[in-house]
Parts: sequence; C-alpha cells; structure tokens
Amino acid sequence: MTTIFVPKEPEGELRCAATPDTVKRLIKEGLQVVVEAGLGKGSHISDEQFQQAGATIEPERVKGLAQADVVLQIAVPTPEQVKQIREGGSIISFLWAFEHLDVVKALNERRISAFAMDAIPRTTRAQKDDALSSQANLAGYKAVIAAAYHLNKIMPMMMTPAGTIKPARVVIIGVGVAGLQAIATAKRLGAIVEATDPRPETKEQAESLGAKFLEVQGVEVKQGTGGYAAEQTEEYKKAQAAMLAEAFKNADAIITTALIPYKKAPITITEDHVRSMRPGSVIVDLAAERGGNCALTEPGKIVEKHGVTIIGETNWPRTVSVNASDMYAKNVMNIVQDAMIKVSKESKEKVFKWTYDDDIVNGAMICHEGEVHHPKVRELMGLPPLAKPEPAKPAEPAPAAAPAATPAATQENKS
Ligand code: NAI
Repeated sequence: MTTIFVPKEPEGELRCAATPDTVKRLIKEGLQVVVEAGLGKGSHISDEQFQQAGATIEPERVKGLAQADVVLQIAVPTPEQVKQIREGGSIISFLWAFEHLDVVKALNERRISAFAMDAIPRTTRAQKDDALSSQANLAGYKAVIAAAYHLNKIMPMMMTPAGTIKPARVVIIGVGVAGLQAIATAKRLGAIVEATDPRPETKEQAESLGAKFLEVQGVEVKQGTGGYAAEQTEEYKKAQAAMLAEAFKNADAIITTALIPYKKAPITITEDHVRSMRPGSVIVDLAAERGGNCALTEPGKIVEKHGVTIIGETNWPRTVSVNASDMYAKNVMNIVQDAMIKVSKESKEKVFKWTYDDDIVNGAMICHEGEVHHPKVRELMGLPPLAKPEPAKPAEPAPAAAPAATPAATQENKS
C-alpha cells in the first residue's frame, strides 16, 4: 500500500498540504495517509479531526519522511529534509527548481521523484492541479482587502445627508489570475477600477468585470505563450510608464501583479510615480517576492515613502490559510488521484505510479528515477539534453475566459 506523509510546514507558514476532506478521499483511493502531529494548527484543523478522517498522526517528522512513498507539502524542501526522505520516494511541493539547483541535485542523488507545483503547464486539464492559480486567486482578493484596510478612505460611493463620498479609485497592473480577482474584489467593494496588461486578450476579461482597460498605444507589444506575457521592449516600458503616470495621480490604491515567468519582476511603478501619488494612498505589490513591481517596495515589509504606504507582503495566501490549505490540499490530492492506476483491467485495486506520457507529469516532474528531466534545469545544471523519454506533446492551452465576479469562479481564469 502506498503511504502518503504530510509534514508540518516551516515556522510562519500557516497553510498545510492536507485537510480532513482530502485525507478521506485519498484513503478511499486505497492509500495510507500519515500526517505530522500539529500539521493543521495554522489552519485550525486539529490532530483529532485528521484522525477522524482516517489519518495516522506521526509525532516524529524524520520517521514519517523515512517511511513515506509520497511526501506532500508546500515549502521547497531543504537539502537536510531531502536526506530524510526515503530513497526512491516522491515529493509533491513547490520547488522553484531554477533557483534551487542544490535541492534538485540532492533529490536526484537519492533518486527521488520531484513533482514541482510551480511547473505545472497552464492547460485546461491542469487547472484542477494548478496551485499557483489557486493561491494567486486568494492573494488577489486579500491584496485589495489590505489596501482597503490601510487606506484612510472608504472604497464605495456613499450618499449621506452630510454629503456624497466619492468612490475610491483603484489601479490594477497585470490582469492574470491575481489581477482578475483583485479587479473583481475592488469592484465588489464599490471602487472605480482601471486595469492594464500587455496581453490583448485581458482587455475583454478586465472589462467584463467592470474595469476600464488602460491600453498602451502606438508601440509594439511582444506576445508570450501559454497565457504568459513576454518581456516588453524599452519603448513599451516608457509608453506604459507615461500612460500609468496619469492614472496613478488620481489613484487611491494600486495593486500590482505584473509577472513574467522566470524573470525578475518588471518595474511598473517608479519612484517618480510614487512621488506623484496622493498622500495617504496605498500600493500593494504582489510581486514583492520576485523583487517587486514598485521600485520602492521592501519585500516582507510595509513602508511609507513620499506619503504612500507600500505593502510588500510575500505570502498573502497564508493570511487566509483556511481557504489556501483547502485549495492547495485539493490541488495535490488531484495530482495523486491522477497517478493512481488500476493493478489490472479486471481489478478494482489501484496503485500509485507516475505515468510519463501525461503532459502534466511530464511538464512538472523535475527529476525522476535518478535523472533530471526538466530540459531547462538540465541546461542550468550543465547536463546534456536527454534523448528519452520524448516530451509529450503539450496539450492545447485553455481558451481565455473572463471570470464571473465570484471568488469560486475566478479559479477558472488562468488559461
Ligand atoms: P499571472 O501570470 O497569471 O499574471 C501576471 C500578469 O502580469 C500577466 O497577465 C502578464 O501579462 C502581466 N504582465 C507582465 N508584464 C506586465 C507589465 N509590464 N505590465 C502589466 N502587466 C504585465 O500571475 P499571477 O498568478 O496572477 O501572479 C501575479 C503575481 O502575484 C506574481 O508575481 C506572483 O508571484 C504573485 N503572487 C504573490 C503572492 C504573495 O503572497 N505575495 C501570492 C500569489 C502570487
């Protein structure tokens, strides 16, 4: 029987990679689930609740890691943790392999199969597994709530006997998963919302949620692939900065989410922009972890510059750990469920086995059976390209769709 182990996350992380619901469903698949004692504390799930769902509670992490066939977690494993995982076992977690080549090397040396949650292809079929989206969706929501909290104004228009209060003006930069949810949330709070993104398909999506789309005119826009943006030319950046300067002068809050995969975050808000903003306005920089979209962001901190509050929180999902754990636990559960195959045609019994001709496994598996599989990671590690297995033909990207203005529906946005 395949044993799953879910260790506690590092200090400060309130999310966890399993919930009683996912434990029950994994056990139904024929798996044994062991969770580290105290796993759910940050998400208000007790050991008793995990036990009632059928999990075994393991007080000793080292034991749990050594006995598990598959480890489920959120954090990138440390080289020390890798030493404790059973040789030939599997781990499903965030990995950010390009930045953690030492971890990849350690995993590979122990022939551990490492499925990276950050490398899942952006396809329709992969949406249920896509933790970057499930977490960014929550981050987009919470960023607007944080802006509203730090703003010395209210967001909606209010008509009172003492006079009319004008609605707040919010600018959203980057209309991806987090940005779309930020638009929807700011609209629900009654703000006037403007949004911008170089990907032309985002115009309709932003407008369908009630935002005014700010389009950079008269310059070449570089197109990326698979729902991601490409890095833009200097000419585009200048034109975007000039266009946004006008919007920023009148903004009360800016939520910036601009991302180009595997690149440092592009600067969308310069110091001059900040200087031009109204005193008391707020910037929430969701790209803080990758250096920040605002030139004055200090990752992990809330600072005040030129009278503007700049919020550089790097882990918004943990601030809504109940939902974030629920979503993440379902994402990893779906991956495990898809890896369960029938022992034989006639049998109902299933076993856990990675299937390599699956485009999701193929895209997200960084190393497997003693071989680094990800072509770009191989290149960075100075390894020659692999002849086999042939990469499966990537599935068609999901059709772009604007979300309904409800939190549940926006999970489907990333395409
Ligand atoms: P995404 O890839 O879905 O969206 C990013 C958007 O930025 C894309 O639509 C892209 O076209 C746009 N973009 C790229 N360059 C731009 C530019 N120069 N100007 C305007 N838009 C531009 O990414 P997602 O999932 O929405 O994440 C957004 C950001 O939020 C990422 O940086 C991600 O790492 C971060 N994030 C932060 C969290 C936190 O707790 N701080 C939690 C989750 C995500």
